[in-house]
Amino acid sequence: MARTLRVDAIDAGYGSIPILRQLSIEIGANESVAIIGANGAGKSTLVRAICGLLPITSGSIYKGDKPVGTLAPHLRVREGIGVVLENRHLFGELSVRANLEIARLRGTSRNVERRFTIDDVCSLFPFIRERLDAPVELLSGGEQQMVAIGRALLLQPDLLIMDEPSTGLAPKVLRYIAQAVAVLRERGMAILLVEQNVALAAEIADRAYVMSLGRVVHEIGPDQWEGILRDETVLRAYLGS
Ligand SMILES: Nc1ncnc2c1ncn2[C@@H]1O[C@H](COP(=O)(O)OP(=O)(O)OP(=O)(O)O)[C@@H](O)[C@H]1O
Ligand SMILES: [Mg+2]
Repeated sequence: MARTLRVDAIDAGYGSIPILRQLSIEIGANESVAIIGANGAGKSTLVRAICGLLPITSGSIYKGDKPVGTLAPHLRVREGIGVVLENRHLFGELSVRANLEIARLRGTSRNVERRFTIDDVCSLFPFIRERLDAPVELLSGGEQQMVAIGRALLLQPDLLIMDEPSTGLAPKVLRYIAQAVAVLRERGMAILLVEQNVALAAEIADRAYVMSLGRVVHEIGPDQWEGILRDETVLRAYLGS
């Protein structure tokens, strides 16, 4: 399988505090992979290191065959890495349309054929069409999450990274997100999903890495989800809770 992302033995941390230790993961083209792990395991730190918000101090990161581990964040976007961060970072005072437009304009710097349009985003999340002119800060958390995913798609990624998109959201919104991921995969997208909701991770992802204390401590293969969902002891051991 062609490789979309390879993170190879990276170290990263905050100041002199090491967090990620010799961490390696891989995502194939069109594959959907979850990262699960307890609070503080380093999942968001990994996301920041992949998209360039946090420097790595050793190891390397490849997008396809290109080393991107020292590129600035906007140059990683140009290489096809789209990200929805933990707290979404939308422009609250601006309308939904303006938030999407900003990304759409940026996305045109990526010279790729498969393009997502604002209309595609409205088809994935129908409520957006009704609220295009509303300031983002007036939307519910779930609606904002969908706008954040839409905005990431307009950067025309072929790898979409989402850091805990389900946090605090109603089951109905989770359905929308799961359905959207299915559509994206039909369109060839690779997905990296940080998710503590293991049932949702099992539904969306082909396989998973389990993180603890900044390392990958376990891998869950495609045929192992069912056993994990059935056996709460195993789950607790994985999540350290
Ligand atoms: N800006 C920062 N400065 C210093 N330490 C930080 C910073 N951000 C995170 N940390 C520490 O890094 C470790 C990993 O944090 P991280 O946010 O990556 O965990 P996480 O797995 O995403 O947790 P959660 O499930 O709560 O989101 C934690 O011990 C945290 O306290
Ligand atoms: Mg986190």
